[in-house]
Amino acid sequence: MTQSRSALQITEGHDLSGKVCVITGASSGLGRESARALAAAGAQVILAARNSDALTETARWIRAEVPDARTSTVHLDLTSLVSVRAAATEIRESSPVIHILMNNAGVMFTPFGRTRDGFELQIGTNYFGHFELSRLLIPQLAAAAGARLINLSSGGHVLGDVDFDNLNWEHRDYDKFVAYGASKTANILHAVEADRRLRDSGIRAYAVHPGTVATSLARYMSRSDYSQLRRYAVAGSAARGESTAGYLDFTTPENGAATQVWAAISPELADRGGLYLEDCAVSDTVAPYACDAERAAALWALSEKVCTTS
Ligand SMILES: NC(=O)c1ccc[n+]([C@@H]2O[C@H](COP(=O)([O-])OP(=O)(O)OC[C@H]3O[C@@H](n4cnc5c(N)ncnc54)[C@H](OP(=O)(O)O)[C@@H]3O)[C@@H](O)[C@H]2O)c1
Repeated sequence: MTQSRSALQITEGHDLSGKVCVITGASSGLGRESARALAAAGAQVILAARNSDALTETARWIRAEVPDARTSTVHLDLTSLVSVRAAATEIRESSPVIHILMNNAGVMFTPFGRTRDGFELQIGTNYFGHFELSRLLIPQLAAAAGARLINLSSGGHVLGDVDFDNLNWEHRDYDKFVAYGASKTANILHAVEADRRLRDSGIRAYAVHPGTVATSLARYMSRSDYSQLRRYAVAGSAARGESTAGYLDFTTPENGAATQVWAAISPELADRGGLYLEDCAVSDTVAPYACDAERAAALWALSEKVCTTS
């Protein structure tokens, strides 16, 4: 199903003045649209990404669309924990209170590579960098007394589970589809455990599937990758007895960003968390291995260990 409302429509009627939102990967696609919608409702938006020129351009674009927008930019390269820590320090210094942290940045189906800290590139960028950023911002989120942590996951989490014994593809041949799936599974497990650990500090966490959205995320995909994925998705739907009509139909970034913005502000989610969201609703399409509480706790413990020793 494709989302029929835009992110801007989701924020209509909401007054977010006084709220501080941090969005990673805000220089493009869903992050950029989310930033515009939240800024339009009066939030102060901290745009974080690795390309400083693209961030400046995004801030200019938002101001052209929303003349009284309040934005600032922070350099963040999720492939380096040194950069993540520097970005967290900069954010903490400017913002003692953070109401929304949207872990949105991501890469998909990259050729095999490693981050500066030795993580496989997809899980390192999509998960470990965000785990560390979120961990370092917990006091500022807690200070909001009602913060939300939103992790961009994907329906593609069904392509692969987290392999706790071989997180970084040291002992098996690399499969870019499975590696993306594992990173997006990790984003869900992170939300589940973050919600359990942090709810008493007023922080609720969510994982979001935005739909299939025409953005630059597909930059590493070939035509045959697309066909292979489509066959896989259609077979999966058919096996579950679901309609395959419109499967993998693309929506626009304006509409694709609706669910993550809904996750950030909807009163319907008050006092709830640890949920997988899709189409501006709680979804039950999440794979059981991706929302298992014990595995979520184990991944958190392991991530804390590897991030603090890297
Ligand atoms: N589009 C979809 O159909 C879809 C479906 C399911 C889930 N998602 C998820 O939605 C999120 C947003 O994706 P999108 O579709 O908006 O893609 P996008 O247009 O490619 O945006 C991704 C953003 O992440 C940034 N980024 C990538 N690597 C980074 C790094 N090492 N450090 C900091 N920032 C980095 C990119 O910056 P650069 O431009 O510098 O690379 C860009 O700003 C991703 O987490 C993705 O997995 C998307």
